[in-house]
Amino acid sequence: IAVEIHPSAKEGSKAVAQEIAALIREKAAANQKCVLGMATGSTPKYLYAELVRLHKEEGLSFKNVITFNLDEYYPIEPDALQSYNRFMKEHLFNHIDIPEGQYHIPDGTIPKDQIKQYCADYDKRIEAVGGMDLQILGIGNNGHIGFNEPGSNINSHTRLVTLDNSTRLANAYEFPNMSQVPRLAITMGLSTIFKAQRVILMAWGSHKAKIVCRSVEGHSTDQVPASLLQQHSNCKFVIDEQASAELT
Ligand code: F6R
Repeated sequence: IAVEIHPSAKEGSKAVAQEIAALIREKAAANQKCVLGMATGSTPKYLYAELVRLHKEEGLSFKNVITFNLDEYYPIEPDALQSYNRFMKEHLFNHIDIPEGQYHIPDGTIPKDQIKQYCADYDKRIEAVGGMDLQILGIGNNGHIGFNEPGSNINSHTRLVTLDNSTRLANAYEFPNMSQVPRLAITMGLSTIFKAQRVILMAWGSHKAKIVCRSVEGHSTDQVPASLLQQHSNCKFVIDEQASAELT
């Protein structure tokens, strides 16, 4: 895995935003759609702020962009404070010119007996537009990508999963208390993610240093899902100095 180290999260995020902008413009020039896989959480906040700035100040258009988000809690209402549907609108979609209907975020209100079909359809919709050109990822402290927790199968598709307790703890700050953190989520599968032409995983801060090191330098194992990215032919980690502290 290639690793790109920046002095700070802001600078790393700007570099990734530049790559995304270049890809969007290249596709637009060829009259093609640009299909992006999106992440939520604290990691991509600067990235989305920079993409909004590029739209407002430098005329970057998202008219040819189609997006698919990695995951959403289950169950959750789309307008709940912690919902990833709400997060994406507040941080990105409300501020750019992406046409309604060209962004997709898993729906946390699907009745349980329809989830299997819903998830299969989500993967089909990605395939129908030719697959992802670029997938953006963060990384959980336990190495999860999307909500593919340790032990997830490399061939897994979009599905309903149980969140690890450590993940619920890490995300508890968003909720009034731990008991309100959902136990389930809908996530793109590892095979869904791996089909992207290109993958960029971002990680900021010293609390990510250990898991970044295990993912890049440890052996590739499903016990650290991000380490499976060693098997992807076009993947890089964009990290800040703090997150690089354990690398040799
Ligand atoms: C979010 C996602 C998760 C996060 C990860 C890190 O869509 O897929 O894998 O990227 O939990 O979260 P933060 O960025 O909050 O440290």
